[in-house]
Amino acid sequence: MEKREKFGTRLGFILVSAGCAVGLGNVWKFPYICGENGGAAFIVLYLICLAVLGWPILISEFSVGRASGHSVARAFHDLEPENTNWHRFGWFGMIGNYLLMMFYTMVAGWMIRYAIRMLTGALDGMNTDQIAGAFSDMLASPIEMGIFMVISVLLAFGICSMGLQNGVERITKVMMLLLIVLIVVLAVHSLMLPNMQEGLKFYLVPDLQKIADIGFGNVLFAAMTHAFFTLSVGMGSMEIFGSYLDKSRSLTGEALNVVSLDTFVALMAGIIIIPACFAYGVEPDSGPSLLFITLPNVFNHMMGGKIWGTAFFVFMSFAALSTVIAVFENIISMTMETFHWNRKKAVSRNIVGVIVLSIPAVLGFNVLSGFQPIGEGSTIMDLEDFLVSYNILPLGSLLFILFCTKKNGWGWENFLKEADTGEGLRYPAFVKPYIRFGVPLLIVIIYLKGYYDKFAPYGTKTLIFWMCVAIAFLALIFSFSTSKQKSKKK
Ligand code: ALA
Repeated sequence: MEKREKFGTRLGFILVSAGCAVGLGNVWKFPYICGENGGAAFIVLYLICLAVLGWPILISEFSVGRASGHSVARAFHDLEPENTNWHRFGWFGMIGNYLLMMFYTMVAGWMIRYAIRMLTGALDGMNTDQIAGAFSDMLASPIEMGIFMVISVLLAFGICSMGLQNGVERITKVMMLLLIVLIVVLAVHSLMLPNMQEGLKFYLVPDLQKIADIGFGNVLFAAMTHAFFTLSVGMGSMEIFGSYLDKSRSLTGEALNVVSLDTFVALMAGIIIIPACFAYGVEPDSGPSLLFITLPNVFNHMMGGKIWGTAFFVFMSFAALSTVIAVFENIISMTMETFHWNRKKAVSRNIVGVIVLSIPAVLGFNVLSGFQPIGEGSTIMDLEDFLVSYNILPLGSLLFILFCTKKNGWGWENFLKEADTGEGLRYPAFVKPYIRFGVPLLIVIIYLKGYYDKFAPYGTKTLIFWMCVAIAFLALIFSFSTSKQKSKKK
């Protein structure tokens, strides 16, 4: 077995973990979810969700990782009391990481494609319809999308193959620092656009009437789901970085650094995008196409649009790749621990595996577009995103919290000791009742509400079917957590 590496520096740990968090969620999903849910009003709820849900869950993941020194595939085996079933969750974590990558590599490929399109001026002089047409043409071409998906897979696995310190840490550090510089430059530029005050007002001044119009429950649900997605919690992709960490710093403080950096990037992405939309008279709630149709349009009308457009899509590519690299590192580690492979073998097998697994998402936009798995107009990517965002992330987060608080799990005392080892912010132990009961209750409510909202429009029968599916998943997770210690009779 190869020797397990640790991070070389504290900054390396923070930037790699933040790199895992900072991704399409911040720069693609956040601005349009924010646009769709009333701007600033959504942001307030989102920040609250990060503080009361995302942050404690992240601390739990880091603690399980650091105490076990293993990925989620092995961590529960190491820490659970004898004869309990927590370790079965390891497989869910593993599936979650693959499922996320099955569409994420494709969208990372779109970012790289658009960075090149901007740089080469391929969209110059096009009108709105032509820009929309260029996006549809890309979606219609499995070869074009396939090539860029493969490029993103090879780039990220290439970096991981160089090892934790030499590859993942060294390169992500540079990429994240460049990303932060780019984001600040782009944000300052956005603030100098004409009419930007209106955009900033929409973005930063909460309007409670908007929450009332959209429905408080809906906005809250969007905010909570996005908090899980943006922090990548619930499937062990953050846990792994705890396992590479030494004991010098307390985990509450380190998790706060990661959450803050992630939030900073999301808020800045909004500052870049939303004023630009207002300046050029486009609605910021145009959904997922915002980046690929609306913004290239905006850049076409802007002075120096080619430079800004290229910088913007390079920034997006870095954000997406930093997540792909981080999740691949976790996948490599999980497969090394599960199948006793060395890094080289894990990399080569996973390159093939992830490319093959990413093909359905690519084909879902063209050859297989007739397959609409979760409702009219939905794609294979939507199904994969649904399985991860609506299921594995909230249910996995629930499991981590139960594991860290229940007596038949790792337990509160062990968790607290690990979280508080090292210098820095202490975990506020008085919040135990909230973490033990409040967080699980909130997660269960969000989870069931997600299913209800998604399937209620399709009629009672469909709704009942899917609610049964949701309850079955929930029961499965609870079955891992309620397992009792059996006396050892042999
Ligand atoms: N945390 C990753 C993102 O926000 C998945 O894109």
